[in-house]
Amino acid sequence: MAVSRQSDAPAYDGVARLLHWLVVALVAAQFVIGWTMPDIHRDTQPVGLIAWHLGVGAALIATMAARVVWRLAHRPPPSTLSPALRAVSGATHFLLYAVLLVVPLLGWANASSRGWAVKLLGTLNLPALAPTGSSVGHAMGDIHGVLAWVLFALISLHVGAALFHRFVVKDRVLQRMLP
Ligand code: HEM
Ligand code: HEM
Repeated sequence: MAVSRQSDAPAYDGVARLLHWLVVALVAAQFVIGWTMPDIHRDTQPVGLIAWHLGVGAALIATMAARVVWRLAHRPPPSTLSPALRAVSGATHFLLYAVLLVVPLLGWANASSRGWAVKLLGTLNLPALAPTGSSVGHAMGDIHGVLAWVLFALISLHVGAALFHRFVVKDRVLQRMLP
């Protein structure tokens, strides 16, 4: 049976749902590109897959900025979960937001420390987050790679929970975020 949202069930608003799935697509692309792009050395140029990682990354930074602003101005629909589960899901969502902001910012700082421009839609130059040659910016690249795994673990937990609600508990939690 196809899963679809019923208009009378409480759901996230259309903008929140659009931004959620846009972020899912951009983050999925970032993992695939991040794990397949060539190793980066001192004289590596930001071309090919590395350029894609920076371009998709800039789009993700802009989308996350819009998402945080939207989320602060719009409350989610009332929860149907028990207080304990509500606390766990609230904590997971908060951590997802936090790591989704920190990982891109660290990548951006690392790109700046390498003297690489981060451009939104290939045109608008985002400001440098660290001076070229900064050792702190370089260290941030290492933390970026490690925290990407933390993000991966959080996403696995989150997706597992969404599927658990849909197929085991059989409630309408997943439908709250469907198109
Ligand atoms: C959630 C979003 C992101 C994910 C999941 C992600 C994932 C990754 C992964 C898996 C690597 C390879 C790490 C390694 O092999 O050790 C990487 C490297 C890198 N990423 Fe990202 N990335 C994201 C966002 C960004 C953004 C927004 C930028 C910049 C605009 C960026 C810039 C970089 C750079 C410069 C490197 C090379 C770091 C180094 O080797 O020193 N990333 N990223
Ligand atoms: C890159 C992958 C993903 C990330 C980073 C992510 C992130 C998030 C975040 C931060 C929220 C909280 C929204 C808010 O309160 O403003 C959320 C909610 C939600 N996500 Fe995801 N998500 C991802 C993938 C998925 C997938 C694949 C599914 C479905 C299988 C899913 C289903 C849901 C549902 C149902 C909610 C609403 C939960 C509720 O009603 O409280 N997410 N997601």
